[in-house]
Amino acid sequence: MEPIPTLRWVDGSLRLLDQRLLPDEERYVDCSRVEELVRAIKTLTVRGAPAIGIAAAYGAVIAAMTADDDGSFPDRVSADLDALESTRPTAVNLFICIRRQREILQRAEGKDEAVELLLEQANRFLEEDLESSRAMGRFGADLLEPDSVLLTHCNAGGLATAGLGTALAVIYEASDRGWVSQVYVDETRPLLQGARLTAWELCRAGVPVRVLPDSAAPSLLRSGTVDAVLVGADRVAVNGDVANKIGTYTLALAAMKAEVPFYVVAPLSSFDPETQDGGGIEIEHRGREELELLGDRKVLPDRAEVYNPAFDVTPSDMVTALITERGILK
Ligand code: MRU
Repeated sequence: MEPIPTLRWVDGSLRLLDQRLLPDEERYVDCSRVEELVRAIKTLTVRGAPAIGIAAAYGAVIAAMTADDDGSFPDRVSADLDALESTRPTAVNLFICIRRQREILQRAEGKDEAVELLLEQANRFLEEDLESSRAMGRFGADLLEPDSVLLTHCNAGGLATAGLGTALAVIYEASDRGWVSQVYVDETRPLLQGARLTAWELCRAGVPVRVLPDSAAPSLLRSGTVDAVLVGADRVAVNGDVANKIGTYTLALAAMKAEVPFYVVAPLSSFDPETQDGGGIEIEHRGREELELLGDRKVLPDRAEVYNPAFDVTPSDMVTALITERGILK
């Protein structure tokens, strides 16, 4: 299975598959300025925890390439890294990748060496991501059985990473083994990452997909149709609490009640050794327009306020197992 070209370094710029336009259009945008990449991350042109981290690592290369080669060089690059870090607060991959690039920047002697070393590291992140997705796929598929009916939420696929994804890497591996009879995909309100992105990816790979409104998932689980739930993570705290796309907690509650295994698939780059539990994870809140508009149509009265958290936290005792590239944590 070949990975989707979600992000690639091409001729000195970062080429992103514009995820806002899928599934209608496969269009690429090139970022050669840090401001362009900052906007791309904020607007979800590129999204998903591992992909955001790797994109920001390439952002550090762009910052070094575009900064003047004089005494202001380290400060200019560092200010660009601050801007990249301030794009989205929840996915820890962003902060881990930027921290690594800051260390490299401090060590480098001069602009040329900085560009070279930062690019090497960004390429390494990309390659490691592909490798770890294959490993997570194998470990996760070993937990499943032939004829599995699976349920997933948001997009934890190749579009969210530089590889095959996390939860979807497991589904791809299980599908290669001939074990997947159906994948239910939550549409994932309000930005529809499930309906637009996961359904697109799975259809492209020939996996049978059925999309459902998020609100239908609890009764589907209760019906006994689903054998396992597989989701990704934006951040895993030290105690195993998991932040992921809003609606994940609802699924975990319903899965627990229905006694359906609830698996979180996440590379170690999504584990945060500095956050003890889910209470310490900053949850991003997004703008009114995401709820106010349905396509071009306005569906909210002007005087109604909105509550639009992009993520929620699922306590570790509701997670059957965490599937990583090094093995399974129960
Ligand atoms: O707001 P998004 O689309 O960036 O949210 C993405 C998710 O919540 C994914 O489930 C998560 O990043 C895991 S991706 C492998």
